[in-house]
Amino acid sequence: MQFSSRLDRFGAEIFAALNDRKVELEAQGRKLYNLSVGTPDFETPAHIREALIESAKDPASWRYTLRDMPEMLDAVCSYYQKRYGVTIEPDQVASCYGTQEGMGHIGLVLCNAGDTVLLPTPCYPVFIAGANMAEANIVYYPMTAENHFLPRVSDIPEETARRAKYMVVSLPSNPMGSVGTPELYEELIAFARKYDILLVHDNAYSDIIFDGNEGRSILSYPGAEDVCVEFFSLSKSFDLTGARISFLIGRRDVVAAFRKLRSQIDFGMFLPLQKAAIAALTGPTDTVREQCRKYQERRDALCGGLRAIGWDCPDSHGSMFVWAKIPDRYEKSMDFCLDLIDRCGVIVTPGSSFGPLGEGYVRFALVMPPEQIREAIQAIDRCGILQS
Ligand SMILES: Cc1ncc(COP(=O)(O)O)c(C=O)c1O
Repeated sequence: MQFSSRLDRFGAEIFAALNDRKVELEAQGRKLYNLSVGTPDFETPAHIREALIESAKDPASWRYTLRDMPEMLDAVCSYYQKRYGVTIEPDQVASCYGTQEGMGHIGLVLCNAGDTVLLPTPCYPVFIAGANMAEANIVYYPMTAENHFLPRVSDIPEETARRAKYMVVSLPSNPMGSVGTPELYEELIAFARKYDILLVHDNAYSDIIFDGNEGRSILSYPGAEDVCVEFFSLSKSFDLTGARISFLIGRRDVVAAFRKLRSQIDFGMFLPLQKAAIAALTGPTDTVREQCRKYQERRDALCGGLRAIGWDCPDSHGSMFVWAKIPDRYEKSMDFCLDLIDRCGVIVTPGSSFGPLGEGYVRFALVMPPEQIREAIQAIDRCGILQS
């Protein structure tokens, strides 16, 4: 069977070796600290689960929905007004089964094969997959330590900017935990307007932002309405990663085109999920604030703890991740990760899985309470991996 050449753009499964090792050590009964996967350990708020359960009890909920219910679209609009001060209309909102799925399809909506797409590096892998799915020409813009892991549009060559169809921006960033300033968003919007580029903002972490900073929507900045769309996932803010609820929000023609593509491959979001989304968006949000505080405690435990044992790891400013440079003697982050799990049972994600400039780093996910994070740090310290 000759499979599509599109598939050749996707690399081999690089996590397999790490996962095999994890399974082996688990079978031996070894104590493991899994800080690799970014799925929150907090409980989904009860009112959201109840809304889903109630709806699922009704046999009528089990049909094709074929559309986003007006109540859900209204709930998104009201939430955007209340949370971000952004006025949007229901025709500026389309649901998808998680940002992962939506971002995976966005290239097909926006690009022809060979069109240029600007992506950050390092970045969340589906940005790359979505562009590859459309057989786009990917040009990376660096988000490196020298620039506080933020985009610098002035470094993007004019020729590339002229060709670019869309540019993905995602702040607070996964894996680096960097956070945008109002000036940066204004600069990005001015750049997109100048070169007629669509900015696709992945707003996964506006509710996980530290040290008193306020997470915003890119659509809250002047001029964004003409050049931006934003993926707004409920996964992390409301701890419902398994439910797969996200929305594409913003420029009408892009949202309509996105809906057109999705209507070819999907018959609408399961009604109980739509009810759960409404409950999340219209219900109490005290858990959202409370868990942000808890993530910050975890960030302090991890970054402060690593620094105390001699691992120079800067504070993450947002997201549920910490990005740390591996010891100099290692060339490959995967080798370091395999040694780390063997020597002390701590599991982290190799930086190489986040695109070209991810090598040389690892990503910790803040998915354990501070006490367990401190235990993991003691294990790292005791095993001596930072020294030899
Ligand atoms: C930046 C970013 N975007 C999107 C996602 C996935 O979101 P969803 O659960 O809505 O697919 C993640 C999950 O870790 C993420 O870190």
